[in-house]
Amino acid sequence: MGSLTNKRVVVGVTGSIAAYKSADLVRRLREAGAAVRVVMTRGACSFITPLTLQALSEHPVHTELLDAGTESGMGHIDLARWSDVVLVAPASANFMARLSVGMADDLLSTLCLATSAPLVLGPARGEQACGETGPGRMLEPAALVLALAGVFETGSLSDRRVMVTAGPTREDIDPVRFVSNRSSGRMGYAVARAAAEAGAEVRLVTGPVDLDPPERVSSKSVYSAEQMYQAVMADVDDTDIFIAAAAVADYRGVAQHERKLKKSNGGITLTLERTPDILAAVASQAHPPFTIGFAAETENLLHNARIKLESKALDIVAANLVGGPELGFESEENALELVWRGGGLTLARASKDQLARKLITVIAERYHEKNTTQGP
Ligand code: PMT
Repeated sequence: MGSLTNKRVVVGVTGSIAAYKSADLVRRLREAGAAVRVVMTRGACSFITPLTLQALSEHPVHTELLDAGTESGMGHIDLARWSDVVLVAPASANFMARLSVGMADDLLSTLCLATSAPLVLGPARGEQACGETGPGRMLEPAALVLALAGVFETGSLSDRRVMVTAGPTREDIDPVRFVSNRSSGRMGYAVARAAAEAGAEVRLVTGPVDLDPPERVSSKSVYSAEQMYQAVMADVDDTDIFIAAAAVADYRGVAQHERKLKKSNGGITLTLERTPDILAAVASQAHPPFTIGFAAETENLLHNARIKLESKALDIVAANLVGGPELGFESEENALELVWRGGGLTLARASKDQLARKLITVIAERYHEKNTTQGP
C-alpha cells in the first residue's frame, strides 16, 4: 500500500451536503501523515464552517481568490506550488462542469488550473441524500485516503534495485572534533522515498543525520567516508541504479588522534588526505549500475556538471547551486540542473520531495531507454 507521509495535500471542498464528510477526510489524511491545506468554495461554507476544517487541518482555511494575507496576494499560486496533489471532495456537479470548461472564477477553480500537481476528484455511485440512487455521492473518506496514496505509486522502477547515498560523512580529527559539512540528508532521503514510491527495492546508505528512516526503504547508517565506501561496495554488484546524493567529506586527517588535541597559543596544522571517491569507484566497475552523481557547485553549474559527467563516466549528473540559505544544503527546497550525454533538463525550485519525484521520473525514463538500446 502507498504512503501519504510528508505528502502535501490540498483538499478542495465544494457545495454539497457531503461536505460534512470533509471533516473526517481531513482528519484521516492527517493521521496518514499528510500535511493538509483546505480550500472551500462559497457553497461549501453553507454546509460546513471553515472553522471546523481549520481546527482539523491546523491551518487557516482559504476561501478568497485575491488574498491580501498572502505574500504576493496570489494565494492560488502559493497553494498550487505547495501541493503534491489536489483532491476535490465533495466535487459538486456544478464545480466539475466549471472545471471541464476551464473556468477560473473562484479560488478553488483557479488553483486547479494553476497547479501542475495531480488533480483528483472523489465522486462515487450510490444512494443520495435526496433518496435517489445513481452517480453523485462522495467516495467515503477511508477509500479516498487509500486512492490518494496510490496516486504517488508510479511503478516506473518496479522490481529494480536502487541504492541511494545521503547526508554528510564525518572524519574524526580527535575524540571530540571532526571534519564534515552542512548536509542534512533531506535531498537523499527524498530521493530514496521517491524511488520506493516508483516501486523500486531501495537501499539507503546514510551518514549521520537527524531524520526518520523513510518507509519501505532499508537503511544502513554509516559515519565516515570509508564506512560509506565499504557499505556501498558490499552491495553494488546487486544494484541496478546508484544515486549518490551524499555530501561525502572530500578530506580526512592523515592521523586520527586518540586524545583530544591540546590548545596552544599558536595555530595548529592538520595534514589532510583525500577520502575514497565512492561515486567514481561505482562508475568504474566492469558492469556498473546506471549511475547518477550529484554536483554541489557555487558557480558555473552547467559547465562543472558536464565535466563531472564525462570525467566520472556517469549516466546523469544532478547539479545544484549551494552556498545560499534557500537552496542546496539544509534547506527545505532545492532546484536541479540535470545533464546527460546529448541532453539535459531544468527542474525548477520546489520542495525536495517534489524535486525527488521528478528526478526519479527522469532517471526511470533514461534508465529504460538505455536498457532498451543496449539490452540488460
Ligand atoms: O542533504 P541536504 O541538506 O538536503 O543537501 C543536499 C545536497 C546539497 C547535499 C545534495 O543535493 C548534493 O548536492 N549532494 C552532493 C554533494 C557533494 O558532495 O557534491 P560534490 O560536487 O562535492 O560531489 C560530487 C559527487 O561525488 C556527489 O554525488 C558525491 O556524493 C560524490 N562523492 C564525492 C566525494 C567522495 N569522496 N565520494 C563521492 O561519492
